[in-house]
Amino acid sequence: MTAENQNIKIPTHVGLIMDGNGRWATQQGLPRLAGHKAGVENVKPTVLSAKKFGIKYLTFYAFSTENWKRPQDEVSWIMNLLSIFIDREVNNLNKEGVRILHIGHRERLGRELLKKIEDAIELTKNNTAITVQLGLDYGGRDEITQAVRKIVASGVSPEEVNEELISQNLYTAGIPDPDLIIRTSGEMRTSNFLIWQSAYAEWVFPETYWPDFTEEVFWQMLVEYSRRDRRFGGLSQS
Ligand code: IPE
Ligand code: IPE
Ligand code: MG
Repeated sequence: MTAENQNIKIPTHVGLIMDGNGRWATQQGLPRLAGHKAGVENVKPTVLSAKKFGIKYLTFYAFSTENWKRPQDEVSWIMNLLSIFIDREVNNLNKEGVRILHIGHRERLGRELLKKIEDAIELTKNNTAITVQLGLDYGGRDEITQAVRKIVASGVSPEEVNEELISQNLYTAGIPDPDLIIRTSGEMRTSNFLIWQSAYAEWVFPETYWPDFTEEVFWQMLVEYSRRDRRFGGLSQS
């Protein structure tokens, strides 16, 4: 599985909507919470696969601004799993040269979890092998709303507002737009993920539930991506 032997184009930035944890668990007669556990377990192997493939930016959608609507025990379970994940894996990810960033609201996360995230960001800030953005309490509409607030508060005139200024005020400021977005579990919608940044992303929808997403499936998605003709509104290069 190397880019040379299959004419593969490696996207610079891949977004991952990790969907299907609940259905994965139900399918095996397990409670939904077991699906989230298996889902979180699959994050690190996916980061290592992405690094191996030469992907420079990977953004995980872990918890949306709408996911607060779920039952309280499910929400706390997910937050707890993420907290344990950070405790267990940040040093390993740091050794792998992973730079960790967070996108989303910070205020609604528990203070302890937020501190762990901030420490992870600080620890890994000079790493260059791959940048991993964790979308936690992230929503694209919320992100744009926050950006508009910041822009208005800065007092710029209407004529100074342009796409560049909006991009610079998003959580993803300074990060290139995603080239490829993978949503697992067969659902075909954005669910509020990177809605500004994905204007020209290629989308793929493997049927695989997130806990079963493997390096092989990831590679197949890169194969599919490589077949796409990205025109960005212009004309084909070939
Ligand atoms: C994705 O899996 C994880 C989160 C949204 C937090 P789901 O929990 O949405 O799993 P399904 O879609 O119910 O199978
Ligand atoms: C999207 O999945 C959010 C994450 C994967 C974190 P959902 O399962 O919440 O999305 P919907 O409700 O099916 O659109
Ligand atoms: Mg879902």
